Amino acid sequence: MRPPFITSAVLPDTLWLNSGKAPETSGQLCLPWLLAEVYREVLQELRLLPAALETTPCNEGPQGGITEEETRAHFARSFSGSCARLAFVALDPLAVFRTSRDLFVRLFSGGRLHLLDLPCGAGAASATLLCLAADLRQQDRLPRQPLRVTVLGGDLSEPALRIQRRLYRKLTPRLEEYGIQFRPVVQRWDIEDAEQTTALLARWGKLCPARAATAVLAANFSGFLSQKVKECREQLREILRHAGVQGADVLWVEPRTTAATQKLFPGLSKEVFPKVLKMRQSWGDKPRAGQCAVQHPIQQHGSFTVSAAAMHLAPSRRSA
Ligand SMILES: C[S@@+](CC[C@H](N)C(=O)[O-])C[C@H]1O[C@@H](n2cnc3c(N)ncnc32)[C@H](O)[C@@H]1O
Repeated sequence: MRPPFITSAVLPDTLWLNSGKAPETSGQLCLPWLLAEVYREVLQELRLLPAALETTPCNEGPQGGITEEETRAHFARSFSGSCARLAFVALDPLAVFRTSRDLFVRLFSGGRLHLLDLPCGAGAASATLLCLAADLRQQDRLPRQPLRVTVLGGDLSEPALRIQRRLYRKLTPRLEEYGIQFRPVVQRWDIEDAEQTTALLARWGKLCPARAATAVLAANFSGFLSQKVKECREQLREILRHAGVQGADVLWVEPRTTAATQKLFPGLSKEVFPKVLKMRQSWGDKPRAGQCAVQHPIQQHGSFTVSAAAMHLAPSRRSA
């Protein structure tokens, strides 16, 4: 078996505090400081800082939605939980997911990367991975090769897309200091609409730079999708077929809730995966799940627990 690119033991203490114990048994996750910085600035501009300071993310917190109010509630209360969930799976400090850290390192070590982020909401998933890469570069855990990242994000909520643009405007020049060139595009997209899904996927293909590595991020969608897998199965199959054609890995990350583990993932295994032959579930048909402690990114001395249930699908012509 190929040795891992990075082990839990060399994760920097800017991202994983383990107080000298065996690194894979316990510790506390810290979100990258760059992400915390831009998150705090956007909260301040939106006058949401007090709400974010007095609430703690949890699995059953606000899920976002199409209204301004739902979006603001999600951004103030659940955004740090969404970011922590992605960071937990990408860094995999407790060695729960096994292939996700190598995938993250392979994608973010240099060259060109083209991501599809669905539903992108306020941008938690892509922003987290980019800021983790910047932190690991600063700590000399990732090479400082030029990295050009393009992201196409789709989401139903216009207010969430507006917050995302604001967050990305702040992030883009700061990432350049770490050799990361970031070009985001977002568009409104409803997974229940087959034509919008085809148009989004066509745009993703069109925007793909030559020789780019590709990946699809699907994060924190179970609040909505767990009830709708059957209705949306054609669109879900089409997303995965496009991933197969593009040679893209798919990382699907959810909170470890009944909606995700008893409905969404079994629904995907039954309704979607068997009809997409080019994509292979790297871990079999069950998600891997775990949880860890997280230092709150903006609350002094605040902490919370994040849980994740995730699946990694890889194009069948390449092993994970
Ligand atoms: C919990 S948020 C997750 C957003 C982001 N991936 C994250 O991790 O923060 C769920 C998102 O699903 C979006 N959503 C709900 N129904 C949708 C639909 N039919 N099509 C596309 N997006 C939808 C919401 O607007 C919301 O932004």
